[in-house]
Amino acid sequence: MKSCDIALYGLGVMGSSLAKNMIGHGFRVAAYSKSEEERRRFALPGSESGYVVCADVQELLASLKRPRIVFMMVTAGAAVDSVIGELLPYLERDDVLIDGGNSHFRDTARRCEHLEDRGIRFLGVGVSGGEKGALLGPSLMVGGSRDGWMCCRRILETIAAHCGEETCCAYIAAQGAGHYVKMVHNGIEYAILELIAETYHLMRYGLKFTHKETTDTFREWQSSRLDSYLMDISVRVLEKMDDDGTPLVEKILDVAEQKGTGRWTLQDAVERGVYIPTIFEAVFARCVSSGKAVRVEGKRSLSATTAPFIMENSREKLRDALLLGMILSYAQGMALIAKASEENGWDIDPVKLVGVWRAGCIIWSELLTEVRTALSEEKANLILTDTFSGVAALEPALRETVTGAQRAAIAIPALTSALNYYDSFRMEQMPVNFVQALRDCFGAHTYRRVDKEGYFHTEWE
Ligand code: 3PG
Repeated sequence: MKSCDIALYGLGVMGSSLAKNMIGHGFRVAAYSKSEEERRRFALPGSESGYVVCADVQELLASLKRPRIVFMMVTAGAAVDSVIGELLPYLERDDVLIDGGNSHFRDTARRCEHLEDRGIRFLGVGVSGGEKGALLGPSLMVGGSRDGWMCCRRILETIAAHCGEETCCAYIAAQGAGHYVKMVHNGIEYAILELIAETYHLMRYGLKFTHKETTDTFREWQSSRLDSYLMDISVRVLEKMDDDGTPLVEKILDVAEQKGTGRWTLQDAVERGVYIPTIFEAVFARCVSSGKAVRVEGKRSLSATTAPFIMENSREKLRDALLLGMILSYAQGMALIAKASEENGWDIDPVKLVGVWRAGCIIWSELLTEVRTALSEEKANLILTDTFSGVAALEPALRETVTGAQRAAIAIPALTSALNYYDSFRMEQMPVNFVQALRDCFGAHTYRRVDKEGYFHTEWE
């Protein structure tokens, strides 16, 4: 029966949630998973007329209206190529294939090209919001075939999160642009998570707030400019007690895992020469955390001159330090996206992109409204805009936090990197004139001068 609007391949947590979201919005879904267990588990009592669970890919494709739209929600990497290979013999010209996983944008670009040659319209869609977002309205960043987008636009815009009247779903650009911006979104997410964690650590173990005082402070911050999804779940985490009535967070081992999108963001930034120190430190904080035994040994064997971490008006100052760190994390991510857009000829509209992040996604925050306004000023960096001229008023708090932590020998790499990022914009004169002199001295690499045009070499001996 060719009556389904869309096929959902992959019925894991994200795939089945997206399928349920589509069914809930009145779209008829053909659902399939390689796993018999997942196919069996997929059931929506009361909505049976809204979907059909298929036994194989032939049945899946035969259940669809034309042009056929298949949404893949499978693990990024080899599994995506394998599913494409499985579907390809049954796909026809003008069919639309969507990859909603966290694929690497270069893989997406390669798949776009390969499938386009066969007349298949391929889309790489960044999906943010986790399980709940997928079910109730995710943020969707669409890249790839514009024609393909026009074909499935109505479905994606309908199931996405909404901010007022606006849908949090947009076509970003061709090739892997949708997955690219999702990757950077995750990089920003890494940075904000680490900034929040460092602020918590300073409060709890530097200032020695009780758990209750820490929780109350975070709760108070929810209704400040820090208002965001990640602050909301920070309060939820702090409020969670273990079975013995003590805070669960304090029982969690300080070793953080990662799935790879943060690291990809760094690799890409290095290739493009874009400075994203807070994302860098957030990724490496997770790497360093994995060496727990080394850290335990270091604590015993390495001494440090320490002074107590003391700050007057510490609540306000930590809040402002975290806020500036968050602003600078968005600034770093948006600068990277701007460079990639230019280098790939994507012509990404940053204002439209940030609109997609205003609901449904992990890095949603009230600040994004300001970020959006700032981006419309089209300056080289967010912090140079009139909208963010107020960052200067937050700087003393960040500096006092960082210097205080350094005196107390507490490593807060993300907050420190944010301050370095800020300061780097004020370095009208950098020390690299000396680097240039040294390069010319040992390698005759030449240098430019402040008083004359051209390249010069000196015989230094
Ligand atoms: C995801 O993509 O699931 C997360 O947003 C990032 O995952 P990670 O923190 O495990 O890398």
